[in-house]
Amino acid sequence: MPEGASTPDPPRRLLREVAGVWRLCWRAGAWLTVAQLASTVVTGLLPAAVAWQTKLVIDALAAGDHTAAFGSSVGLAATGLVTAAFPHLIGYLQGEHRRRMDRLTQDRLYTAVGSFQGLSRFENPRFLDRLRMATQATGAAVGPVTTGLFGVGRSVLTLLTLLLTLYLLTPVMTAVVLVAAVPALAAQISLAKRRVTMLAGLTPTMRRQFFYAQLITEVQAAKEVRILGLGDFLKGRLLTELAGVQSGERRLDRRVMRTQSALALLGAAVTGLGLLWAVRGVAVGELSLGDVSAFVAALAGAQAALVSLVDGIASGHEALLMFSYYAEVTSLPDDLPRSRLAPAALPALRRGIELRDVWFRYDESHPWVLRGVDLTILSGATVALVGLNGSGKSTLVKLLCRFYDPDRGGIYWDGVDIRHADPAQLRRRVGVLFQDFMSYDLTAAENVGVGDLDALDDRSRIERVARLAGVHDTVAALPHGYDTPLTRAFVLAGSDDDPAAGVVLSGGQWQRVALARTLMRDGRDLLVLDEPSAGLDARAEHEIHHRLREHRAGRTSLLISHRLGTVRDADLIVVLDGGRIVEQGGHDQLLAAGGRYARLFAMQAAGYQAVEVG
Ligand SMILES: Nc1ncnc2c1ncn2[C@@H]1O[C@H](COP(=O)(O)OP(=O)(O)OP(=O)(O)O)[C@@H](O)[C@H]1O
Ligand SMILES: [Mg+2]
Repeated sequence: MPEGASTPDPPRRLLREVAGVWRLCWRAGAWLTVAQLASTVVTGLLPAAVAWQTKLVIDALAAGDHTAAFGSSVGLAATGLVTAAFPHLIGYLQGEHRRRMDRLTQDRLYTAVGSFQGLSRFENPRFLDRLRMATQATGAAVGPVTTGLFGVGRSVLTLLTLLLTLYLLTPVMTAVVLVAAVPALAAQISLAKRRVTMLAGLTPTMRRQFFYAQLITEVQAAKEVRILGLGDFLKGRLLTELAGVQSGERRLDRRVMRTQSALALLGAAVTGLGLLWAVRGVAVGELSLGDVSAFVAALAGAQAALVSLVDGIASGHEALLMFSYYAEVTSLPDDLPRSRLAPAALPALRRGIELRDVWFRYDESHPWVLRGVDLTILSGATVALVGLNGSGKSTLVKLLCRFYDPDRGGIYWDGVDIRHADPAQLRRRVGVLFQDFMSYDLTAAENVGVGDLDALDDRSRIERVARLAGVHDTVAALPHGYDTPLTRAFVLAGSDDDPAAGVVLSGGQWQRVALARTLMRDGRDLLVLDEPSAGLDARAEHEIHHRLREHRAGRTSLLISHRLGTVRDADLIVVLDGGRIVEQGGHDQLLAAGGRYARLFAMQAAGYQAVEVG
């Protein structure tokens, strides 16, 4: 599709997109579409009506027929009233229609994006560029699509009726006006295409510019930016990207200036020629005064209609090209291949989850992250995964949630390949605390409650899991207890209007909130905790692990931790190294084997002892 913006559009595709826009218009508001169509017809006919009635008034006056002149004047005045009132009515209808289209397109776009079950698209810069173009096509660009379409209809009608008026007065001048229109149309369409191509080409630069601007303004980055003195460095990069964007815009603006000036000169020449011709017509007695007035009005009106037609086609075309990004993103299939058969049901876990010879890499050009992993997580058991940084532990968690599919081998849920199951069903069955968990700018209760949306208002359950995660006392002591916003960036809707009421938690407190959120899903079949205590102080870690151990009893769980003391009583400890399982067994068994786990454990234990002795 990005190539669609740079290569000429096959007319069929353009037609299909116009049809798509019409369907959207209709969906967004049937009566608004009809009302706009009707007002388009009326306003399209007005200029010709004015020109013709003016001619009648002048001719009647010139002939001394005052009654006829009076009658035509009343008609002219009535047309004037309609001309005065209609643009405002149309403006309102367009505004209302644009708002509804905006809502509908945003609804569809974010539904489509939300339906992508995998993560790979969100890690693909090209997709992110397209997504940005598509989001631009919703909000601001929706207006031009519809106003462009209706505007084109109105201009066509005005032009046809004015050309007919001109034709009745002078066929030759009509031909001149028409011939002058062709290059104008071609030039504007080519400009519109260039504009979209430029936008598409500049999107990566714009995204980088946005990224630098965010770093400079965001509170998350503020500390490092200041301590490292990165402000000027980031601003420099931002300005470089901005200069790149602007030089593209400048090139286009120069072209626009040249083209538009040439077209304006052409229009003025045609009008001047027409005037000379009309004056000569009166001088030789071929035209009446009324004819001249109608001619001048029709010529000016036709020129104006032509300009707005050309504008309408150009901006409508540009908006359509932008719209094609929206159309593509909203019609993309899910990024995880679906099995052609009906999705296999995933019943409650009875036997266990099995990884069979799982190979995985994030991209074909990347190294293997998992290299033939065979692992069984028996139902009801606690499996601990340990290993050095980068050994593939978090990747394995992401595969278990099916954010990606293994390149080779498979993951089986009670024997069912999870590739054949509905990812949404799989995810309903698991609770995961990710290593890079989210901190939501919501209230404390919501930060925990979103772990299970059905229980968002179940305060007693929220408090229970908060106690389990050791964060209840902290939250209860906040200015508004569980209703305190955990953000200083927003005043939350419905919350106290006092922005100072928002609170920022400490790193370890956030981790406990995230743990509580995960525990909201403790009724699920599999609980995965990726480094749940990395940010906790030693006492809290000990307490939480003690509580979690009791809580996990009899539940299937996968626990990842660098602190081996916290995993020693897992049913199975698995050591991952370079994407391979190098050891597995119980704590005592692994210690006795004297391998990698034993060495790591001894090192950590020695570290603690050294501290104690020291
Ligand atoms: N989204 C990604 N795209 C590309 N490569 C990735 C991505 N996520 C992780 N990797 C790579 O995969 C490898 C394994 O990463 P992973 O996060 O699974 O390690 P880990 O065992 O969880 O490490 P840690 O102990 O530091 O949490 C790393 O080399 C990392 O660079
Ligand atoms: Mg990790």
